[in-house]
Amino acid sequence: MTTPFDVAVIGAGAAGMMCAAVAGQRGKSVVLIDHSAKLAEKIRISGGGRCNFTNIGATPQNFLSQNPHFCKSALSRYTPQDFLALVKRYRIGFHEKHKGQLFCDDTSDDIIEMLKAECDLGHVDWRMPCGVASVGKDGDLFRLETDSGEILARHVVIATGGLSIPKIGATDFAYRIAKQFDLKLVEPRPGLVPLTFDGAGWQPFVDLAGIALEVEVETGVKKERGYFLEDLLFTHRGLSGPAILQISSFWQPGASLTLNLLPQIDVAGTLIEGKTTLKKNLGNLLAQWLPTRLADGLLKANGFDGAARIADMPDKELRKLGEALNRWTIKPNGSEGYRKAEVTMGGVDTRELSQQSMMVTKVPGLHFIGEAVDVTGWLGGYNFQWAWASGVAAGQSI
Ligand code: FDA
Repeated sequence: MTTPFDVAVIGAGAAGMMCAAVAGQRGKSVVLIDHSAKLAEKIRISGGGRCNFTNIGATPQNFLSQNPHFCKSALSRYTPQDFLALVKRYRIGFHEKHKGQLFCDDTSDDIIEMLKAECDLGHVDWRMPCGVASVGKDGDLFRLETDSGEILARHVVIATGGLSIPKIGATDFAYRIAKQFDLKLVEPRPGLVPLTFDGAGWQPFVDLAGIALEVEVETGVKKERGYFLEDLLFTHRGLSGPAILQISSFWQPGASLTLNLLPQIDVAGTLIEGKTTLKKNLGNLLAQWLPTRLADGLLKANGFDGAARIADMPDKELRKLGEALNRWTIKPNGSEGYRKAEVTMGGVDTRELSQQSMMVTKVPGLHFIGEAVDVTGWLGGYNFQWAWASGVAAGQSI
């Protein structure tokens, strides 16, 4: 009989490499299996090639989950400062870009190489590329049928991520294993994703593609409410940019978004108050506040004549314009889907897992970590922080 490993980690991405390194450095025998020929492609493409590897201000409030308290334990035991200390130990240059987001100065490869070196320190045994056909449980042992033969292990950690970007190897493996062991799933859906609009309804905005500006965006009510002040980007099919990626994780199909395109200006109030002093026409005035192409497009889309003199316009019309710019309410018809989504929301229901060890309560030895689990971070380094923290939690418990 082959000697069982202490742990088989399936998925050598962010969470899987971290978990394997931690368990290995604690003296456990670890085999790390990935079906892909290229290591950690998602880390490589992240952050525009510079990997936004954590957010220095990350708190549990920056994560969405049906069970919002679950992530607290792992996040408090492995913090952004802990990961930063590792990055500094490897002398990887980094900088803060925006709102606590830390990026590599040079390339994401530095993070991949660092995690690989950490795995080497833990004498991790690699199987890659290597598909896993099945995971069975035989008493206290797990039996894996793989492309490189049978592997036995006392613990199995599923770290195969979510469904986003299938062309670089994303699969539903984690969900299939969850179903096999009769675990509840929170329905997966694309998150941090551009939103699309009905073709005919979007027609007036198609020519605005490429325009970016800072906006306020909100959706939902009470606990489900999302609000962000970030950059918006018009695309040919809809809206993107950080503001939309952030709000997409809160958006429910059928719901509307409300956008304030001029957060610093009360448009109706300013126009009505300034009727006698503002000598300009609508088009010229708006062009002071917004890119000209956007000002023209928005006036046209809302049925206003850019040549109209503000002084001649009834207050009711100015209020209507104010509403269109300060409270633009639009209903997406969908999203760009997993092809463009940065993350998958939902996943293995955390009520099935121990927050200490990420182990399935009713299947001793089986763990789920990273994006496969129903914990999704905002845009800005939070998702990697969850991958590191959940990987460490499992790696320390085995
Ligand atoms: P991850 O996807 O990293 O790893 C899963 C691994 O499992 C892969 O190596 C895959 O090949 C393997 N696998 C899948 N199915 C398998 C199977 N059936 N058998 C064997 N192996 C299998 N986050 C952030 O915090 N900062 C950022 O800058 C970015 N940027 C970013 C850009 C883009 C374009 C995307 C798509 C995503 C991001 N993210 C991000 C999100 C971040 O990349 C993501 O949340 C983490 O990589 C999740 O880590 P995991 O280890 O859970 O999965």
